[in-house]
Amino acid sequence: MSATPIAIVDLGRCETSQSALEESADSLVESIRNSGVAFIRNTGIQESQVKHAESVANDFLALPQDVKNRFVDRSSAQTDGLGSVVHSYVNMDAARIGTEYWKTRESLIFNPDIKMGFPDDVVPGFSDSWKAFSISCDDVIRRVLKLLDASLNTRLCQVFNSEEERSKSVKFNHYPAIQTNEDVCGKIRVRAHSDPGILSLLFQDNIGGLQVENNGEFVDVAPEEGAILVQANQLLAQHTGDRLKEVHHRVIVPTDPKIACLQRQTLSYFLL
Ligand SMILES: [Fe+2]
Repeated sequence: MSATPIAIVDLGRCETSQSALEESADSLVESIRNSGVAFIRNTGIQESQVKHAESVANDFLALPQDVKNRFVDRSSAQTDGLGSVVHSYVNMDAARIGTEYWKTRESLIFNPDIKMGFPDDVVPGFSDSWKAFSISCDDVIRRVLKLLDASLNTRLCQVFNSEEERSKSVKFNHYPAIQTNEDVCGKIRVRAHSDPGILSLLFQDNIGGLQVENNGEFVDVAPEEGAILVQANQLLAQHTGDRLKEVHHRVIVPTDPKIACLQRQTLSYFLL
């Protein structure tokens, strides 16, 4: 499957001149219109902050299963945890999925605005790390909304980032290494779906596997070094009268046999 051309917008350049801002804004909108996604770089988010948020998540996942299970939120099982206002740990383990082990995944979903329920007792500093990451993402989302407003002549930033206190989620996905001799290349890891809410930011490793629907076919979103993927979600599409497209996406096991069996990790921020 070939990769689709997805815009790479330099947020730093947007601040250099009005023409640079308008050009970047139009490029962002066109990319989201086509595929529901765009890359952004030069966002001001420190790589060390992202690495730390990922590091405490991995500390959590390394805990004994019975400790992790204390954080399972059974009420959010239907929504994969995302729509939940409480924190949750989701374990799509082999016992649940049977032999389709390429679908196995552990997820951590926390709302940074809820003070209680973080696993700070078992991973000291977890909530501080994820809250700091969330504050940085908030700032990036605000700048992305302003760019969309500049191109579409809308008031998205005011509506979504000022007037209402919206729910937020930080989500860490861990897809474990696949241990098998069977050919799993290209198998579906997460079935096609769109996400609730307004926008999300995806920080992914270099394994790949994300595909977005573009003109009726799923195309690879190859990881872009140093860039974050902006995803448009259901509420944004609704609010703009579908002038912006929500991203319809899925995750597959990479088609390259050399990396297919390697673990994959992603960190995402959602403005819901
Ligand atoms: Fe998704």
